[in-house]
Amino acid sequence: MLDAILKRHSVREFRRDSLSPEVLTELIEAMRLAPSANNIQPWKFIIVTGTNRAKVAGACVQEFVAEAPALVIALSEESRDDYNLAFAVSHLLLEAAARGFGTCVVRSFAEDQVKEVLDIPTNYHVFAVIPVGYARENMDSSHDRKGLASILSWETF
Ligand SMILES: Cc1cc2nc3c(=O)[nH]c(=O)nc-3n(C[C@H](O)[C@H](O)[C@H](O)COP(=O)(O)O)c2cc1C
Repeated sequence: MLDAILKRHSVREFRRDSLSPEVLTELIEAMRLAPSANNIQPWKFIIVTGTNRAKVAGACVQEFVAEAPALVIALSEESRDDYNLAFAVSHLLLEAAARGFGTCVVRSFAEDQVKEVLDIPTNYHVFAVIPVGYARENMDSSHDRKGLASILSWETF
């Protein structure tokens, strides 16, 4: 698992090659198995690879979203900031990285526009749009993170 964690970083340049429906479904399987509070599983996921892909990308602030061959839309039944969704999305990011695919969590988009394009009911919130595909960049990268010494203490703060 640490291999996938080390490999994963946000990818913002994608190759055009598409991913098969089977592979994309397996990525969603990783999300399906994620933990949630009281196991409520307050989510739904939409895979967008067809004509709506450009329309959803058009609702996102960043242009790179349009490059990805597939978009996974993570929906919450609770709120746009439902922490349960973060666990499911983490599963997706790591499963994708383990298989050599690039991803990026995108939260900058016009939610109303995404909902309209995808016909999402009013009681669902768009938690994130996650572009998925083969990275055009090197998947191995260093992680710009705080050092352990500055975030870890033992026994007390
Ligand atoms: C909750 C959340 C929201 C994010 N939103 C965006 C976003 O809208 N656009 C983007 O390009 N990256 C977004 N990111 C990616 C972060 O910028 C990225 O994870 C962070 O800089 C660490 O880099 P790494 O993912 O390459 O390790 C988001 C990440 C998280 C966890």
